[in-house]
Amino acid sequence: MQKHYKPLYPVGFDTYVDPFVGSGGMLVQALKKNPQATCYINDSNKYIIGIYEAIKNNWDAFDKKVSEIYDYFYTLPPTEVCNKTRKAAYYKLREEYNYDYSKWTDGEGAAILFFLLRNCFRGVWHTSKKTSRFSHTCGTMSDSKKFYKGGARFIPYVDLRPNLLQWHKALQTVYIQTGDWKNCGGLDAPNAWIYLDPPYRGGTMDYGQEGGWTDANQKELLEFAVNKTNPSTEVWLSNRDIGDGFFDDAIQQNSYIVDTHKFASKFHLKTTGPYAKCIELLLIKKPQQAT
Ligand SMILES: C[S@@+](CC[C@H](N)C(=O)[O-])C[C@H]1O[C@@H](n2cnc3c(N)ncnc32)[C@H](O)[C@@H]1O
Repeated sequence: MQKHYKPLYPVGFDTYVDPFVGSGGMLVQALKKNPQATCYINDSNKYIIGIYEAIKNNWDAFDKKVSEIYDYFYTLPPTEVCNKTRKAAYYKLREEYNYDYSKWTDGEGAAILFFLLRNCFRGVWHTSKKTSRFSHTCGTMSDSKKFYKGGARFIPYVDLRPNLLQWHKALQTVYIQTGDWKNCGGLDAPNAWIYLDPPYRGGTMDYGQEGGWTDANQKELLEFAVNKTNPSTEVWLSNRDIGDGFFDDAIQQNSYIVDTHKFASKFHLKTTGPYAKCIELLLIKKPQQAT
């Protein structure tokens, strides 16, 4: 979606706030736009936030462990299509991550999760019902670019590391939190850019949250976005329009929302199954000019 978003990025913000940070796609853009911005990130997923914290505060342990795992996977017999040896090693590691994790420090555990997430099928978050920890199936584990679509390609750590080091540097000035979005720092900051990217309506992901992200949750967030944020702040709210008019009233009733953008996309919807055509929605509340 970044190609659609890029021309719309705000300028001149002092603070960037991302209460549903996930993999941090927009944080990267915000930092590119204003490297001096004070940034606050949050996610209810404490394991994902653990990766950010390890990269920020526990770099040496994190780096050493990720490097060790990649080295080990490269000692396994050379890649054939859908490499079975690497897959077996992935599942063994996933088992340890779920049942034998107390042997690792927090930084090491975060490193294991980073490896599993990078190499699982399509890089998507899935938890085990038994442990509530990450437990998605393995990706292709192939070095071949041809298999990229089935999941992240098995990229050598030497190629990933420079990017992670950049994250390590960039995160030094970022405030990192885990919990409900309402407790995220910076939400009342003036002259900020707040990016609200909660779970999408109609989707199959519950992000490990009992009952998932409900319409009541979404309404509360929308109300916050349009009526409770600092007037000098630009607020973005992204979600999916599943054709039931859910966002229409809010858009019509709130003159604050000056921009709505709709982008065609393909998603796995609960109702229609994989690759249903749907609309990505971006609501933008621009800062109000002082009179
Ligand atoms: C659509 S994803 C965000 C994707 C993110 N913008 C990215 O670039 O990867 C939604 C995120 O919201 C998180 N989440 C779900 N409920 C939450 C809540 N009540 N408070 C904070 N985060 C929540 C999920 O863990 C998930 O990471």
